[in-house]
Amino acid sequence: MADEMKAVHTEVVSVDPQQPAADVIERAAALLRAGELVVFPTETVYGLGGNALQEEAARRIFTAKGRPFTDPLIVHIAQKEELEQVAAAVPERAWRLAEAFWPGPLTLILPRGERVPRLVTAGLETVAVRLPSHPVAQALIRAAGRPIAAPSANRFKHVSPTTAQHALADLNGRVPLILDGGPTPVGVESTVVDLCAPVPRILRPGGTSLEALRQVLPEIEPPSPPRIGAGDEPGGQEGQAQRSPGQLLIHYSPTVPLLLFDGEDAAQRAALKAEALKRLEEGKRVGILAASEDLEVLRPCQERGALVRAPASLEEPARVAAALFATLRALEEAGVDVILCRSFKPVGLGLAVQDRLRRAAGGRVILAEAESGESASIDAP
Ligand code: TXA
Ligand code: MG
Repeated sequence: MADEMKAVHTEVVSVDPQQPAADVIERAAALLRAGELVVFPTETVYGLGGNALQEEAARRIFTAKGRPFTDPLIVHIAQKEELEQVAAAVPERAWRLAEAFWPGPLTLILPRGERVPRLVTAGLETVAVRLPSHPVAQALIRAAGRPIAAPSANRFKHVSPTTAQHALADLNGRVPLILDGGPTPVGVESTVVDLCAPVPRILRPGGTSLEALRQVLPEIEPPSPPRIGAGDEPGGQEGQAQRSPGQLLIHYSPTVPLLLFDGEDAAQRAALKAEALKRLEEGKRVGILAASEDLEVLRPCQERGALVRAPASLEEPARVAAALFATLRALEEAGVDVILCRSFKPVGLGLAVQDRLRRAAGGRVILAEAESGESASIDAP
C-alpha cells in the first residue's frame, strides 16, 4: 500500500448539483487532464477521480486513499457508447443492463480493454465500468474528455463519504480540489455485477436493487454473504487480486466498534435497549442506529444520554440507505464508545444496507431472542 505523499492544499468549491457552472467544471476537468485528482459527487457517494487511462493518475488515487494496489478501481464514463473504449468485449447482457439502468448506480464487470492500465484493474483482466447519473459527475467526465477512475473518496477502510465534508475529513491535504454538490441522494455505493462469470452475479449489493436487476436478467445470482477473514489480508491467500475484492469484510468500518443485532423486531428492540442501558450504566457513551418504529422503546436510553438516530421507518429502506453513512459518521464524530445497530430487511436497498452494516460489524451478528434483551448469541456467517 502506498501511503507516502507530499501534502497539498485542498480547496472545496461549491457546485450546483443540478446545473453545475461550466467554469467550475472546466477547472476540475483541467486538473483531471493534467493527471491530478478531483473529488466529485455521484448519485451514490463521493468519488476520488483521476484519468482512468493514465497509470500515474491511478497510482495517485491509490496513494491518496491509502488503498492497496490489489483493490481495483471503477472506471466512470459519460455515455454508453464509451463502454467499447474501456471493455474488450460488450456482451448483449451488458447492453441490456446499460439500457435499463444507466445512467445510474450500477457497475458492470467486463473484459478489460487494452487502453485501461493494469494498475486500474489491480492486475485483473476484467474492468469495472459505470455511467453515473449525477449531473456533476456527468459534466465532469464529459469535460475531462476521458474515462475517470474513481473509488469512493474515503481513506481505505473508512465509511464512504456522502458529503463533501466527509471527503474533506478523510482526504484533506491529499487532493487539490473537492467539488461540493451537497449530500449524495442514493447514499450507498453502486451495485457491482460480474458479467464475466458463467452466470451473472452480484459481487456487491448497492444502489440498484436485486429485484430491479432480476426484471432484466432473471438468472442473476444474489451476492454471497461476506465471509469472516476473507480479505483481512487484501489480495487474499493467493497474493493476487481477489475475484470480488470489494468483499473485504473490513471495508466499511466506522472507527468505533459496531454491534449489529438481528432477530424479530420486538426482540431486537428489547436487546438494543438492554445492551444500551448496560453500557450506559458502565459509564460508556452509546450511539444507537435504529428505525423510527424503535424510538418509543428506546426513549429510556435517550433519557440516560444515549445518542439515538432513526433515519427512517423499517418500511423505507431507500431512506435508510440515503442516511446510513452520514449517520455512522455523525455518531463517530460525537465520540461514542460503541454503536448499537438494528438490522434492516434485505428488501430493495435494504440488501445493501444490511451488507454494509455486517461489514461494519466485522461480520458478526447478535441474534436477539424473543422476550429477552439479555440472552443474545453471536452468529458468525
Ligand atoms: O458507487 C460507486 O460505485 C462509487 C462511486 C464513486 O462511483 N465507487 C466505489 O468505488 O464504490 P470503490 O473503489 O470504493 O468500490 C469499487 C468496488 C470494489 O469493491 C472493487 O473491488 C470492485 O468494485 N471492483 C472494481 N473492479 C473490479 C473487477 N475488475 N472485478 C471485481 N470487482 C471489481
Ligand atoms: Mg469504497
